[in-house]
Amino acid sequence: MSCVFYPDLPPLPDIALDPEAATFHQYLTISCDKNGTPVNNTVCTRHAINPEIVEWAKQNISPEFHAIGLNCQGIEGNSVAIPHTDRTRNWTLMWVIDPGGTDVSTVFWQEQGCEVEREPGYYPKDYECLTAIETHVFETGRWVLLNAKVIHSVENLESVRKSIQIGFWDGSASIGKWTK
Ligand SMILES: [Fe+2]
Repeated sequence: MSCVFYPDLPPLPDIALDPEAATFHQYLTISCDKNGTPVNNTVCTRHAINPEIVEWAKQNISPEFHAIGLNCQGIEGNSVAIPHTDRTRNWTLMWVIDPGGTDVSTVFWQEQGCEVEREPGYYPKDYECLTAIETHVFETGRWVLLNAKVIHSVENLESVRKSIQIGFWDGSASIGKWTK
């Protein structure tokens, strides 16, 4: 099973984004233990994006998404988005605008004794019970589809990672096509 796919989709048009646009989601500060030391979750904010990008995505990507926004991850000094499954989507289609560092890795994990795919919004308490199953460094300027039901973390953030993220649920025809 692969956690990442690269669907053949048209590039995001070059439209200016406004990171100051209304924030519509912010994660709570929590942590995951690593070798007995808590690793604090980095702050992550979602921002509304220009209506013309929303419309472009409906026309050129898929009309089936339920959420689209600019995601800013890695502010306030913490370098890790701790292992989790996404709460608000099963699949994330992502276009990295700024990777937030030279070696920002997205690591997928399996918890010992558990299925690879897990319930939404799950945060393991300790890295000790996790085994890394895939590690990816995503480049800018390319659509990548992530299975957000598999526990994943973002490691080595040096600055704010900015990406356009589009959320889908299981059962969408687009996901079926892109994961073939
Ligand atoms: Fe996530």
